[in-house]
Amino acid sequence: MGTVAVQGLCKSFGKVRALDGVTLDVPDGAFFVVLGPSGAGKTTTLRAIAGLDKLDAGSVHLDGRDATADAPAVRDLAMVFQNYALYPRHTAYENIASPLRARRRPAGEIAAAVERMSGLLHIERLLHRRPAQLSGGEMQRVALARALVRSPRAFLMDEPLTNLDLKLRVEMRTELTRIHRSLGATFVYVTNDQVEALSMADQVAVLREGTVQQVGTPTEVYERPANQWVAGFVGSPPISLLACHAEGDRLVGEAGWTLPRPRWATAADGQALRLGLRAEDLSVEQRGDASLPGELYGLEPLGDRTVVDVRVGTEILKVKARPTVTGTPGERLRVTVDLDRAHLFDAGTGLSLSAAGR
Ligand SMILES: Nc1ncnc2c1ncn2[C@@H]1O[C@H](COP(=O)(O)OP(=O)(O)O)[C@@H](O)[C@H]1O
Ligand SMILES: [Mg+2]
Repeated sequence: MGTVAVQGLCKSFGKVRALDGVTLDVPDGAFFVVLGPSGAGKTTTLRAIAGLDKLDAGSVHLDGRDATADAPAVRDLAMVFQNYALYPRHTAYENIASPLRARRRPAGEIAAAVERMSGLLHIERLLHRRPAQLSGGEMQRVALARALVRSPRAFLMDEPLTNLDLKLRVEMRTELTRIHRSLGATFVYVTNDQVEALSMADQVAVLREGTVQQVGTPTEVYERPANQWVAGFVGSPPISLLACHAEGDRLVGEAGWTLPRPRWATAADGQALRLGLRAEDLSVEQRGDASLPGELYGLEPLGDRTVVDVRVGTEILKVKARPTVTGTPGERLRVTVDLDRAHLFDAGTGLSLSAAGR
């Protein structure tokens, strides 16, 4: 078993409210990702689960038992930090074995566990080396192996891939999901990288300024963001947001454009709104009747696709296009909109008006 449940976590550092009522329910065996920008309270949340800081309010339940008052050592959790501190004088093998040695496990068990973990992380050939003889990515793997060699109740991981270069990070994403599956253990994984969250998580909790904005599967968070902030944080290029309001059966933009009002748009006439459009739901090719007039602002070639920036009034729309697209800044064009996939937010509260209705 390895369920982790936190309820109403509050923690301030002086005037800074790091956690403001954080509630999370991590099922046994989940790959649960806490996603948020720097300063959102992610590390503080993990430290609260591990019992490393005193809380102002809230509770931590492990496997259904109240563990709020338990010392870190008895919680039986393994934490992987962003800065992997390996013992410099020890070989990779000894580093990985150290948590089991500290627990005085029998030699045969230690050898078997190190062998299994180094196999999973593809570091068998590095076991005799010391940290100074390893690259950053290799050190990170050794550090992960050292954490994963135990079988704790759950693993807490604090941005463990942040120090790796992009290619290794992409590789490790796949490795970690594979390892998670083969261990069947509970992972609580913290990151500020939405791609990591979307690609690895079963469940994502989006955290902002110490409050949970939304919890859901990667698809739910991407396709049905609870509010404008989540919509803007998850997705690349970022979602375009256009100021508008509803008028009868039309949506009317501040820039003067109009679009048919989607069936699911439950807004009151005149209510200030933001129409959220993702780059892949827009096209510079003529293919439907819902379209917006604009002018080409710039092209951003990304190899497999080009992001076309289109100016609509004073706002910029980001449109995903074929890599072969061409154009001259200033040239007039129309952007086709897939309204069935659009989002609508209340401009005041930022809350989604489309999340529930579809
Ligand atoms: N020990 C501390 N002393 C003072 N402020 C802290 C301390 N730890 C965290 N904070 C503050 O609490 C907020 C949340 O921090 P943290 O949990 O580290 O965020 P994250 O891990 O999401 O980047 C930040 O504003 C941070 O500056
Ligand atoms: Mg942090």
